[in-house]
Amino acid sequence: MSFAPAPWPRRLRSQEWFGGDSRDNIYHRSWMKNQGFPADLFDGRPVIGILNTWSELTPCNAHLHDLAQRVKHGIFEAGGFPVEVPVFSAAESSFRPSAMMFRNLAAMAVEEAIRGQPMDGCVLMVGCDKTTPSLLMGAASVDLPAIVVTGGPMLNGWFRGERVGSGTALWQMSEDIKAGRMSRADFLEAETAMSRSPGSCNTMGTASTMASMAEALGMALSGNAAIPAVDSRRRMMAQLTGRRIVQMVKDDLKPSDVLTRAAFENAIRCNGAIGGSTNAVIHLLALAGRVGLDLTLDDWDRLGRDVPTIVNLMPSGKYLMEEFFYAGGLPVVLKRLGEAGLLNRDALTVSGQTA
Ligand code: FES
Repeated sequence: MSFAPAPWPRRLRSQEWFGGDSRDNIYHRSWMKNQGFPADLFDGRPVIGILNTWSELTPCNAHLHDLAQRVKHGIFEAGGFPVEVPVFSAAESSFRPSAMMFRNLAAMAVEEAIRGQPMDGCVLMVGCDKTTPSLLMGAASVDLPAIVVTGGPMLNGWFRGERVGSGTALWQMSEDIKAGRMSRADFLEAETAMSRSPGSCNTMGTASTMASMAEALGMALSGNAAIPAVDSRRRMMAQLTGRRIVQMVKDDLKPSDVLTRAAFENAIRCNGAIGGSTNAVIHLLALAGRVGLDLTLDDWDRLGRDVPTIVNLMPSGKYLMEEFFYAGGLPVVLKRLGEAGLLNRDALTVSGQTA
């Protein structure tokens, strides 16, 4: 039985490996067939790499292997051939001496993972702080069609009726236990209550900020950033992302089409509106460099100066990402920026439409 989709309008890059009858073509196909892939998967349909930062030592991304199955569903539905590819994963919570030291290493690893393997497009599965910029940077350098889907934030932490924000509450509690204001038993209970579901930090820390930046840049589908990791809509988002990347390959919609100056300006203003992490400055400057844009600190100063912060989330505010989702998430922020004349409406996004 064949599940062959309609013929593709042009010969894709992956056919350099899988199309034809040369010794190398046979070699590439035969080894892949040891996984039980039927012959028609090599017929010229787009091969989509699902670049996954899943790791049990990156707890914020530990559910991404499961979520990738939904991405695969979407890719198959749209007529593509999904292949899941593990890539370097550095957890902010445990990588020593600092995950920041490994962002560029991860970006290089991702770049070569894409460039050196038979892919026509890729889905970037990210979550924890450095995983998002590193995969965006690597994909931008290769400039094959690419789309981000994040793992989503953890549910709200609660302890004795109070919100417990990832990390934010930790500093206070560790001082309380040292000062004898908190028992060790309470401390352990609060520690468990802080991380009560899969997902990344539930504050507007670097992970949620970079998820928001990916969406504001137009590199993720609308609404992606705030959906909690365990909400069924996160799984729907993953499946829709899988469907979308196949169409992006068909349309040859690449990061260089999306990551324009207009997109970066939107992201900078968005960061001001959400009260995002200052780490976004470092990561967006690096990403802009990958696409040859001369983005500077002066741009941040100029563009962010008049943007009011309208999202009240920890660490600077009161609420957590779960509540940001219930309030409408990033699409509402972008809508408000647009109404205030602070959004470049002509910026193209991975949806194929403008912001
Ligand atoms: Fe991974 Fe915060 S430590 S998202």
